[in-house]
Amino acid sequence: MLSDLFERNAAWSRQKVQNDPDFFARLAAQQSPEFFWIGCSDSRVPANVVAGLDPGEVFVHRNVANVVHSSDMNLLSALEFAVDALQVREIIVCGHYGCGGVKAATEDMPHGLADHWLEPIRRLARAYAVDLAQCADVEARRDRLAELNVIEGVRRASETPILQKAWARGADVRVHGLIYGLQNGCLKPLDCSIGPGHFQTDDLANMAASR
Ligand code: CO
Repeated sequence: MLSDLFERNAAWSRQKVQNDPDFFARLAAQQSPEFFWIGCSDSRVPANVVAGLDPGEVFVHRNVANVVHSSDMNLLSALEFAVDALQVREIIVCGHYGCGGVKAATEDMPHGLADHWLEPIRRLARAYAVDLAQCADVEARRDRLAELNVIEGVRRASETPILQKAWARGADVRVHGLIYGLQNGCLKPLDCSIGPGHFQTDDLANMAASR
């Protein structure tokens, strides 16, 4: 119920002020997050909560299956603001195991608009068909595809003119790939970070292929 939501909000706000009287005044004046999070819209993977961060500590973009589309104006606008204005240091592309969007991309049935959105994941599944065929079962295959989608997202974000320009001017910012386990609540690094001077598309492709 919406009324419950207001009640919970009031309780949360009171609690915050109790612990730190200047909390909202400070945040209202300025945000200076260290992190920019690109994650899945899934309600079970809220950036702040799973990363243990307070309001003001992470700038967030979420979409179905955390796809990094090179032409997504929403994501690109947020990325540009995060890198150029907020000057975040760490960009995190975070996927999760058991992702419904990744599952939809592997199914042979129509899902409406989502099928357009998820096309990059279908392409990845084709590109890594041999790798994926080695997985024990369909769940493992989807989870591996979720990892590949994160690694691809890291690469795509790094290839944007936004990050290329940032690195060219010496900005200290890195892009990382993480995957979240719904079963254990843990974030796992996928060892595909890209930072200043480390932009090697071939290395990343090799890394993805060898996983
Ligand atoms: Co998901």
